[in-house]
Amino acid sequence: MKYRFPDNFLWGAAASAPQTEGAALIDGKSKTIWDYWYEIEPERFHNGVGPKDTSNFYFNYKEDIKNMKNINFNSFRTSISWARLLPDGINVNDKAVEFYNNVLDEMNKNNIKPIMNLFHFDMPLIMQEKGGWENREVVEGFKYYAKTAFRLFKDKVSFWTTFNEPIVPVECGYLADFHYPCVKDMKRAVEVAYNTMLASSKAIKEFKDMKCEGKIGVILNLTPSYPRSNDKEDVKAANLADLLFNRSFLDPSVLGEYPKELLDFIKENKLTPYFEEEDLNIIKENTVDFLGVNYYQPRRIKKKESEIKDTDILMPESFFDYYIWADRKMNPHRGWEIYEKGIYDISINIKENYNNIPWYVAENGMGVENEKRFIDDKGMVIDDYRIDFIKEHLKWLHKGIEEGSNCFGYHLWTFMDNWSWLNAYKNRYGFYRVDLENNLNRSLKKSGEWFKEVSKQNGFN
Ligand code: BG6
Repeated sequence: MKYRFPDNFLWGAAASAPQTEGAALIDGKSKTIWDYWYEIEPERFHNGVGPKDTSNFYFNYKEDIKNMKNINFNSFRTSISWARLLPDGINVNDKAVEFYNNVLDEMNKNNIKPIMNLFHFDMPLIMQEKGGWENREVVEGFKYYAKTAFRLFKDKVSFWTTFNEPIVPVECGYLADFHYPCVKDMKRAVEVAYNTMLASSKAIKEFKDMKCEGKIGVILNLTPSYPRSNDKEDVKAANLADLLFNRSFLDPSVLGEYPKELLDFIKENKLTPYFEEEDLNIIKENTVDFLGVNYYQPRRIKKKESEIKDTDILMPESFFDYYIWADRKMNPHRGWEIYEKGIYDISINIKENYNNIPWYVAENGMGVENEKRFIDDKGMVIDDYRIDFIKEHLKWLHKGIEEGSNCFGYHLWTFMDNWSWLNAYKNRYGFYRVDLENNLNRSLKKSGEWFKEVSKQNGFN
């Protein structure tokens, strides 16, 4: 076989509690910032579809897991909902324990390895009311939640992750206006990022102190930053974007410390967050066992050319500009560049600069609008574009592995079409289609059929 992957390679997909479970306001779950935001500003969500129902995994998990098995998944990642497990932040919700136990048992019974994540953008509202990640009390709240989850489910889960894309709530909630609380303030963003990092390390410390078996990691969306040219200023700009968006979590998570250049930048711009000396020891001593990498798109960076006005709020983009690469290929639905080689560059970066730590592709995928138009007369979405997308990324990943990068799996975003934050069900990502007009019926797409073989053969030609 031309592209054969290492033995025991993980094949599967990723999802998250808030995007799939539904049942957002029943069985004891308290509100997250998403439930609340939808209540006060429903018009911001595509077609007015909010987080209440999503794809109903809460009720449908048995059939869904059967569908995973049907296409030969050997692993699946989702998250636990903090607001479901600990509705008031302290007391355990028995219904949640029952639900997650059922899901984990069903997966294990079907030989689908669960990878359980603790936080996927879904801050409980009661924690946000305390100030969210700006408040160190919430960091302690998270530590308590992590400890509770480990205690309850550690016998059923051997791969844990603390956060999915921790930079996203920083970017979208405190710099851009895409997540609640819709703040635009770089100083507060840095505080949020720092406290999130600390929360991750504290959760890892709990995991180790409890002597849990299994491994713990973090999932980062790494967006390689490519400079427009070799010009010193372009390279410097790309390096800064890399420091802010990638290395701000990658270095402390894997190496146990922040890059000096990042600390200098933060200091120069008077952005240093509140910290205690002991924090740095906790970060140093509690690095991850493995890394999950979400890869969708690169960043194309050039030196700052547009003018900054005195009235402009300080933003990462105050220090560099984006540019359009002449050869770029786009996914027009999501507005993201498709650059398959990025996954290879990431694999080599991890190998060379991050101790060749074990890692896996925790998300990669293609969101496409109006897939209905590709349904054939047997009712199947013929998504050849998705097969090509996955194949091309896998080829580059394979090359990285052949050159020694320690990658142990590939997960697509996502298993079945799901709710995507403000975009709701606009772009579809799944191996299975979810029919919103017909009872949320699931039907296999052509890409799912293709993946079934890839997983079975552990590769493709
Ligand atoms: C990742 C997230 O950023 O990308 C997912 O982990 C998200 O939660 C996915 O759904 C696809 O992005 P989007 O914005 O199209 O949903």
